[in-house]
Amino acid sequence: KMDQFVSQLMSKMTLDEKIGQLNLVTSGQATTGAVVNNGVEAGIKAGNIGGIFGLYGVDKVRKVQELAVNNTRMHIPLIFGLDVIHGHRTIFPIPLGMSATWDMPLIERAAKIAASEATAEGLNWVFSPMVDISRDPRWGRISEGSGEDPWLGSQIAKAMIKGYQGTSMTNADAVMACVKHFALYGGAEAGREYNTVDMSLIKMYQDYLPPYKAALDAGAGSFMSSFNTINGVPATANQWLLTDLLRKQWGFKGFVVSDYTSVNELSDHGLGDLQTVSALALKAGLDMDMVGEGFLKTLKKSLSEGKVAKAEIDMACRRVLEAKYKLGLFDNPYKSISAEREAKNVLTNANRQAAKETAEHSFVLLKNKGQLLPLKRSGTIALIGALADNHSEMLGTWVIAGDPNKSVSVIDGVKRAAGPDVKVLYARGSNFTDDSLLNERAWFFGMKQQRDDRPAQDMIDEAVKTAKKADVVVAVVGESANMTGESSSRSDISIPETQQELLRALVKTGKPIVAVLFNGRPLTLTWENDHIDAMLDVWAPGTEAGNAIGDVLFGNYNPSGKITATFPRSVGQIPIYYAHKNTGRPFSGKGNAKFRSDYIDISNDPLFPFGYGLSYTTFGYSPVKLSKTNLKGNETLTATVTVTNTGKLSGEETVQLYVGDPVATISRSVKELKNFKKIMLQPGEQKDVTFNITTQDLKFFNNKLVYDWEPGQFNIEIGTNSADTHKASVQWVK
Ligand code: IFM
Repeated sequence: KMDQFVSQLMSKMTLDEKIGQLNLVTSGQATTGAVVNNGVEAGIKAGNIGGIFGLYGVDKVRKVQELAVNNTRMHIPLIFGLDVIHGHRTIFPIPLGMSATWDMPLIERAAKIAASEATAEGLNWVFSPMVDISRDPRWGRISEGSGEDPWLGSQIAKAMIKGYQGTSMTNADAVMACVKHFALYGGAEAGREYNTVDMSLIKMYQDYLPPYKAALDAGAGSFMSSFNTINGVPATANQWLLTDLLRKQWGFKGFVVSDYTSVNELSDHGLGDLQTVSALALKAGLDMDMVGEGFLKTLKKSLSEGKVAKAEIDMACRRVLEAKYKLGLFDNPYKSISAEREAKNVLTNANRQAAKETAEHSFVLLKNKGQLLPLKRSGTIALIGALADNHSEMLGTWVIAGDPNKSVSVIDGVKRAAGPDVKVLYARGSNFTDDSLLNERAWFFGMKQQRDDRPAQDMIDEAVKTAKKADVVVAVVGESANMTGESSSRSDISIPETQQELLRALVKTGKPIVAVLFNGRPLTLTWENDHIDAMLDVWAPGTEAGNAIGDVLFGNYNPSGKITATFPRSVGQIPIYYAHKNTGRPFSGKGNAKFRSDYIDISNDPLFPFGYGLSYTTFGYSPVKLSKTNLKGNETLTATVTVTNTGKLSGEETVQLYVGDPVATISRSVKELKNFKKIMLQPGEQKDVTFNITTQDLKFFNNKLVYDWEPGQFNIEIGTNSADTHKASVQWVK
């Protein structure tokens, strides 16, 4: 039916109208670069625009949709997109934080709520999920993804697609997802934004491509091509990527949009002038051109000169129209534009509650010396730090429709959770940073940082005085929102110097110190780990930040988050990730030894390994019990551990299963995550956690890129994080 409908429509369309469908413009309400699209209204009426992004709100969207539906010859509705990345009006934790929940229902619900709020404001397309694997925390956009692991990244990608698209994209509260950035954007050299990606095919297939494929298999309607090159060919003009892999190998049926001016940027990549690169992109399999108007301005000419084929333009147009059809826009172009939903369905108590719950589950307890946390509900607390008395930084990157006036500050949340018997004192202590470069970047999404013009030492002195009056210090420190996200790579990933000075002064008071860490990436925290008693990583928690932080600090919720990207000891260890290769001269694990694969000045170990995260209680693990140790073919292996809550509080634990393949035709990663289970245990309670393992879990891409398993020994590791497991081995033959 869709085929027939689109064919009929296209039979009536002129070439210009078809090319118009391939043109995506921004309204200018939200931009990430120069606005090159003036005259949007005239463009719509002329049939030169297929979609708009950055525009939301029922009145605005209705007006613009009416222009397209009532004032164009073909009456084709527009598609309305936006960077809805971790919530729309109700802001959830940044994606890296959300991934630390290891909780797929929570993540799916977050996406569903984002879709319901976005559609209530007229949107039908979100530029999310970002499924780029990254093993380089210098890269600012690691905050927007799910960390370093392809298996976990794939589960999260699926959950988000389900949440966004629901059971049918025709539903009024469902949006079309846009999987980005295809592909390998997170593999940028040196973690530098927009930088080159050069990667072996095995690494690509094994470690970086799975989440894109998982999103596709979950039904994702669209993909966005990435800015980077891949082994020399920019993704936006990469035929192997956009056609051979995505469509022919993987069977993708949706449409591909470029990133913001990434067609034009092909010229800077060195591929030729705008006409040449636009033709290259179309021929490679790109369907829609974001902002740069290369398609609009050159495809007609290219067709007349035989540089592109009519069938190629038709195909791209068909895919864009099909997307609109799948969204039900031809039946009702205004299907989700409802003033009532806009008034009633956004920032509801239920949505805020979901955001709070997600935030609580995303917090990772990195250290808790002497069980300093949870805090007692008595005495005096010195709450210190610019991030504690702020309403915008906690929202994190990409919060286009998030309203800081609606968010809960840390100080308000802590006071509420503390109750009447706790005295909460506050001192700012420092500015976020005095680094002028970082300050200059504070324009992003209009987020102006609040600065205090007092001399730095005066602020520190005030904080120290405040700390001395308290029983415990809670220092809220770390990265402000603009330090991560797009175009926010850092070469130094420590807490900014002004805040480190503050921490050093606070440590000298001898008071017990809790650091509440805001961050959009793994940070280097070696000094902090040595000197601070307790550290709770809260990422950028979103609208309900203060309430979630307050409740976790006082133990109303016992933290259960686990990091999904390795925290290095120093930038020099990057890239650092748990699923590394053994090498021919593996690190001995016993300090630094000559002629091993190590450093002479630092251990190979990270500060905090992938999967790490403590709880206010403690968990004991039994050795791994296997159903058998010799298996054949399609048999199923069961591996069980008994987990005991050995502490005094109830708590959740994420039990992780890793599989290692020590003998194969290629050198394999030392281990790979294959499953996990989250369990809740009361104090003293024990639970058996059983994993079923099949040959699916043993498969990998060999050097012919064939995905299969090879017989031999396999290590089954189960534990509380990637570096702390119990191990057993099996022989598995074909
Ligand atoms: O969706 C984003 C993308 O992630 C980075 N460049 C701009 C796009 C649209 O805002």
